[in-house]
Amino acid sequence: MKKALALLLAIIFAAVPCMTGFAMSEESWYEYWETDESQSGITVFPGSDESERRFSWYSGSGSEPKVEITESGTGSKKVFSGECIKTYSGDYANKVTVTGLKEGTEYTYVCVSGDYRSDEYEIRTADGKAFTAMYVTDIHISDGEDEEADSVRDDALLYNNVIEAAGNISGIDIILSAGDQASRGLEREYKGLSASPAGRGITFAPAIGNHDRKGVDFRTFKNLPNEKKDGLNTSYIGFDYWFLKGDTLFMVLESNNGSGIDHHAFMESAVKQNKDVRWRVVIMHHDLYSGRIPHRESENELLRLIWGPMFSEFQIDLALLGHSHYYSVSDVLYNNKTVTEIKGNDELVNAPGTVSIVSGSINHPRTGEEELAFNDTLGYYYKEQGSQIIFNLIDFKEESITVKSYSYDTGEQFNTLTLKKDSQRGGHPEKGAPLYQPLINLAGTIYQFFNNISVWQRLKESGFEVSLTDVLFKGNR
Ligand SMILES: [Fe+2]
Repeated sequence: MKKALALLLAIIFAAVPCMTGFAMSEESWYEYWETDESQSGITVFPGSDESERRFSWYSGSGSEPKVEITESGTGSKKVFSGECIKTYSGDYANKVTVTGLKEGTEYTYVCVSGDYRSDEYEIRTADGKAFTAMYVTDIHISDGEDEEADSVRDDALLYNNVIEAAGNISGIDIILSAGDQASRGLEREYKGLSASPAGRGITFAPAIGNHDRKGVDFRTFKNLPNEKKDGLNTSYIGFDYWFLKGDTLFMVLESNNGSGIDHHAFMESAVKQNKDVRWRVVIMHHDLYSGRIPHRESENELLRLIWGPMFSEFQIDLALLGHSHYYSVSDVLYNNKTVTEIKGNDELVNAPGTVSIVSGSINHPRTGEEELAFNDTLGYYYKEQGSQIIFNLIDFKEESITVKSYSYDTGEQFNTLTLKKDSQRGGHPEKGAPLYQPLINLAGTIYQFFNNISVWQRLKESGFEVSLTDVLFKGNR
C-alpha cells in the first residue's frame, strides 16, 4: 500500500517542474514523508566526469547493492554493482558507481539492495560544454535537540520547494552545495536532505560544512570521486575531491581542515591532471570575504592566509562559499587584495584574479542587522527585502559563466555576475605564490593535527564511539 502511495505521489511530483509557481503543499509532503521511499536517502553524486554518476542510499539490511540504469528511447539497460557499509545507526549505506554514460542523454535508474527496490527516477547528462547548476549553501536540514521528527520533515520540505522554484526557471543539471547540508551531521538529516523527488533527478555536489562535522554521518552518506585520502591530516568525515563537468574543473575543498600542505598538494594535482580545462571553480564552506559577521572576521583573516594565495596560484575563476548566511560578492582578488572593484550586476572580461560569492541559507537565513565588518575586499552584498533564503542559477558555457541570484521569498532576480575569458589563462597573472606561503601551509597542517584531537574529544562528548586513531589516521584512508 505504501509502495502504491509512493508511486502515485512520484507520478504527481514528476509533473511538478512544469507547473510554474507550484510548491508542494504541506499535506502532500507529510503524506510522502511517511513512505519508505522518502527515507531511502537516494542521492546521485558526480562521477569523475560526465560519463559517470555515483549513487548512494540507505537500507535496513546489507547485501550487494545494484543500480539498474536504462537509456530512455533505446531501452538499453545496464546493471552496476557496488558495496555497502554499516552506518553508525546500524543501517547500511549503499554505494554504486555507474560508468559509460553518453552526453546529452536521458536515463532512468532504480536502486536495488536486498528486498528494497526504489521507484524509478530520471537523470540527464549534459550535452556538450554547456550546463546549468543551482548553487545554494547552508541548507541546514536540522534535527532538533529534542529528537522530534518535525523539524527534519519541515526543513526538507522547504529545500524541496526551493529546488522546484529554481527548476521552474531553468532545467538544473547539478546542485552545488557549499556546506552545512545538515545542522548536526546526522543520518536522519541527510535522509531529509535527499528526500526531494525532484532532487533525485539532479546530481548533487556537496562541500563539508562546520555543522556537517558535528556528527559523523556525512562519511557514510557521501559517494564522491577523486577524493584526496592520502593527506598528512584530513578530516574524519571527508576529503577534498574534484570532478569535471563541461569545460569546468570543480575542486571541492574541506575547509574545516586547515592542513595547507594537503590542500595545496590536492589543488596542484587536480589542476595538473586537467590542464586543458578552461574554467576552474572552487566550492568550499568558509566564507573568507563576506564579512557580515564582525566576530568572525578574525577567523576569516586566518583562513584567508591559507586560501587566498592558493586561489591565486591555481588561477581560480570563481569560488562558491557559505557559512555566513548572508549573500555577498567579493571584488576580483589576487593574493587577498582587490585588483578590480565590483559593485553588483557586473560583467568581467579576463578578470585578473578570483571572485568569491557567498550565498544565503535555505533553512537558517539570518535576519539581524549585523554591522558590516570592515573588510575592504567585499564588493557587493544583498540587502534583503524578504529574507536571505537565496538560490543561484549558474549557466556554464565554454566562453562564459553567468551567476543569476534569486530571492526565494520574492522570486526577484537581484544580481547577475558574468565572467568571460578568451583563453584558459584569461587575465590571471602568472606570479606564483608568495615565498613564505609554504610556511603558512605547514603551520595549518600542524594546527590541524591538534585540532583533530579536539574534534575527537568533541565527538566523544557528543556520545560517538570513535577512536582517536580513527580520527587522526583513518580519515587518511
Ligand atoms: Fe551554516
